[in-house]
Amino acid sequence: MTETQVVTTETTERLRRLGLMMIGSLLIEFLGGMANTFWLETPESGSGWDGSSPMWLVMVHIVWGTLVLLLGLWIVIVARKGKSRTWLNLGGLGFVGIFIAFAAGNTFMNDVSSDISSFVMSVGLAIAVFFYSFALFKKDEA
Ligand code: HEM
Repeated sequence: MTETQVVTTETTERLRRLGLMMIGSLLIEFLGGMANTFWLETPESGSGWDGSSPMWLVMVHIVWGTLVLLLGLWIVIVARKGKSRTWLNLGGLGFVGIFIAFAAGNTFMNDVSSDISSFVMSVGLAIAVFFYSFALFKKDEA
């Protein structure tokens, strides 16, 4: 194994800490999403940007979702810098899951009668949780 193929223990530890933080953050996003499902009053159809209440509930979910998205990006950057193929690949796939959920949330707010958008948010979350868990489980390879 050459020098460049080694992932330092420090990088692995850092990525594992960020990965665990990500799973916790995704679970908070999940709970926020459930709170919106139960307590956000939206119009019957059409855009949810006007006429939904309480609007702060969805705003908190969006802000937290943005932080989750940024954390996902940060994990990819750290993995790239630290030359961790495991975290670059699996963290990259996790990021795709977050991105899908984020886009679906937007689509849902543009048409609140779209059950599929709401469902795709859950699918994106499941994809993300799966790949970050997989990365935590797997040996860190360069
Ligand atoms: C990190 C990105 C996101 C994740 C992981 C996520 C996840 C979830 C989950 C698990 C739910 C509950 C179940 C469901 O309806 O699917 C939910 C609900 C909801 N989310 Fe998100 N979400 C994200 C981003 C967003 C964004 C960006 C918006 C708005 C622009 C949004 C708006 C909503 C709304 C309005 C609900 C309630 C849906 C309903 O009543 O059917 N979400 N979210």
